Amino acid sequence: MEKRTLFSEQPVQIGVESGHDNYIMAIESSCDETACAIVKNGREVISNIVASQIKTHEKFGGVIPEIAAREHLDSINIVVQEAFEQSGLKPDDISAFAATVGPGLVGCLLVGLNAAKTLALVHDKPFIGVNHLNAHLCANYIDTDLKPPFMALLVSGGHTQIIDVESYSKQTILGETIDDAVGEAYDKVARLIGLPYPGGPRLDKLAQEGNPHAFELPEGKVDGYNFSFSGLKTAVLRLVKSFEGKELPVNDICASFQECVSKTLVKKLKKALIERGYNQVVIAGGVAANSEIRKKVFALENEGFRVNAPAMKYCTDNASMVASCAYFNTNTFDDIDIEVFSRA
Ligand code: KG4
Ligand code: ZN
Repeated sequence: MEKRTLFSEQPVQIGVESGHDNYIMAIESSCDETACAIVKNGREVISNIVASQIKTHEKFGGVIPEIAAREHLDSINIVVQEAFEQSGLKPDDISAFAATVGPGLVGCLLVGLNAAKTLALVHDKPFIGVNHLNAHLCANYIDTDLKPPFMALLVSGGHTQIIDVESYSKQTILGETIDDAVGEAYDKVARLIGLPYPGGPRLDKLAQEGNPHAFELPEGKVDGYNFSFSGLKTAVLRLVKSFEGKELPVNDICASFQECVSKTLVKKLKKALIERGYNQVVIAGGVAANSEIRKKVFALENEGFRVNAPAMKYCTDNASMVASCAYFNTNTFDDIDIEVFSRA
């Protein structure tokens, strides 16, 4: 597709059909990671820098938006500089500058978006705004030759969706959670059993030591491709209370919770996959790093489906996926006046 540089309005061809190599620099700052990356042709990562704020937010048990925004300000110039250094490229080698526009924490998004807009203005390159959820999906294009159509399960701290990806730019959400997102459920259950923030990966580790059939937990009963995890969360709360005064079988609770979540997700994903008649399926988002969800989704390979999941470092928030999304023009925004948005 054709984009225009911001001052001289020179046409720049970007994307699959451009006929030449594109290097896109992208910034991601929607939550608690300040990230900058340069990706060649949407699939080859040239540099990938992530400054995590976990240490800062750990003591509060969750992300404090105002503190997160201030940390992004402290880190942004450093991650941009490191991404250039790691790549050996100069600003003039960059085809376009991209950034996450939303959904996310407004104060945090503003930092990354304004940095990318400034880089685009100063170096007279096109600016490309990216939706964070589409970026998570595009993490599947990194280091692969994957092409749509495919079915996708997007599981993150804020979203749980089954998406029909018909083409690089056409996607339809078939179903989503009606209450808690999977990552949110993980983090809340983790807090309930006393694990520090961020609970998801920690719960996953303990689950691998426990019996997934120790406790029968309820699957949310919702129509179609939608999900519900609040009932499951309450069931875990009741289970934990039933052990008051006794030693809590933490590993078994984690394993049973993980079994229930992964079973529910993969059951609906498989239903969508079969009904749509696709032979490819992907997972994306921070929770796609989960060991049991990966195991159950990859088991679909035994049934003849091609399965893809991003490498762990491209599941959780990063800027390579944003650059890839900009390259493949997945519902991007070109307007330099685009404002950040908090909800999808
Ligand atoms: O995609 P992401 O980095 O940020 C959002 O866009 O929300 O996802 C973060 C979420 C957190 O809820 C975190 O606990 C969860 O992903 N997460 C995991 C695992 N790794 C990260 N949840 C379960 N198992 C994991 N291994
Ligand atoms: Zn994310």
